[in-house]
Amino acid sequence: MSERSMSERSMSERSMSERSMSERSMSERSKSAQAKWRDTEFVQGYWRLADWGMSTRQLIDFIEAHIDLGITTVDHADIYGDYRCEALFGEAMQQAPHLRNQLKLVTKCGIALVSTNYPDRIVNHYNTTPEHIRQSVENSLRLLSTDHIDLLLIHRPDHLMDADAVAEAFNAIQKSGKVGQFGVSNFTPMQYDLLQSRLDTPLHTNQIEINPLSLGVFQDGSLEHLQLHGVRPMAWSPLAGGRILHEQSTQAQRVRATLATVAHELGDFSLSQMVYAWIRQLPVNPMVVIGSGKTARIAEALASKDIQLSPEQWYRIWVAATGTNVP
Ligand SMILES: NC(=O)c1ccc[n+]([C@@H]2O[C@H](COP(=O)([O-])OP(=O)(O)OC[C@H]3O[C@@H](n4cnc5c(N)ncnc54)[C@H](OP(=O)(O)O)[C@@H]3O)[C@@H](O)[C@H]2O)c1
Repeated sequence: MSERSMSERSMSERSMSERSMSERSMSERSKSAQAKWRDTEFVQGYWRLADWGMSTRQLIDFIEAHIDLGITTVDHADIYGDYRCEALFGEAMQQAPHLRNQLKLVTKCGIALVSTNYPDRIVNHYNTTPEHIRQSVENSLRLLSTDHIDLLLIHRPDHLMDADAVAEAFNAIQKSGKVGQFGVSNFTPMQYDLLQSRLDTPLHTNQIEINPLSLGVFQDGSLEHLQLHGVRPMAWSPLAGGRILHEQSTQAQRVRATLATVAHELGDFSLSQMVYAWIRQLPVNPMVVIGSGKTARIAEALASKDIQLSPEQWYRIWVAATGTNVP
């Protein structure tokens, strides 16, 4: 072997080993940052809060009920309910301030919706400028009636995102104590790595859609990428917004039929419980974001915790979801 190709090889070996060391140390730092969330298996989503028609008293009862069941992380976004959900939740926090310390509050920013609240906007768009992030944090703190957000996510990837500028904004906000940790949502592995490369602390999660009717994250490397970095995703719309249970498409009908057969083999479980188990069995250990506003359905979700599918049962649901046998 020539001297040149030997030195090229040793350079490439060194860069591979440096890369794998930096991947390892990133994964180790992620793990320690994630320790605080280790017990989080389910998260209560509040996207649909404005549709639930709850009085503040009913909302307080609902929050207390899911805390009692063991769900202490709640998922919000500035835009939910046309910018109303955070304020509704904040009313409950004001009237029952003892609940705040029992909860980890997640919220998101970065989407700018056309809304009566923002009459000058012409089109829905994304905005991840430091100014928008800072302003959004201030709004969320005020509306949620709290002095800190436990986890702030950039809601959607933004073609105009300047990763250095976002990192600077994150650092300043974290120093102020207004946000504990940061993460992203709906980011591809490359978009995730780009932002992570500019940050001193690990991103906490990528909140992504995972359910048998929406298989994108199985195809774009997202799950492997998160497993590589020791980062747990939050799985949004685990029941595809309820479509798994009622949609009349052939895919949904196939999935329901298979879920029912496997549920019968494993015991007396509901279709939704089987879906939660199917998602939670992924080795990347997703935290499942529940969307129901009904305490009984949340209890039902939690009762799926110990369901264990065999690899073949898992793949029967996969085959029903994709409509084809694995190669
Ligand atoms: N990051 C993002 O881009 C993003 C996008 C979407 C959602 N999210 C988050 O993910 C959360 C969950 O999403 P999702 O609401 O679409 O979740 P989901 O669990 O897929 O769907 C919940 C919907 O299904 C209905 N449903 C019908 N039967 C049900 C049953 N047996 N058990 C549970 N629900 C049943 C619920 O109605 P009832 O209330 O009547 O039970 C509710 O309308 C949201 O609240 C939000 O926090 C994030």
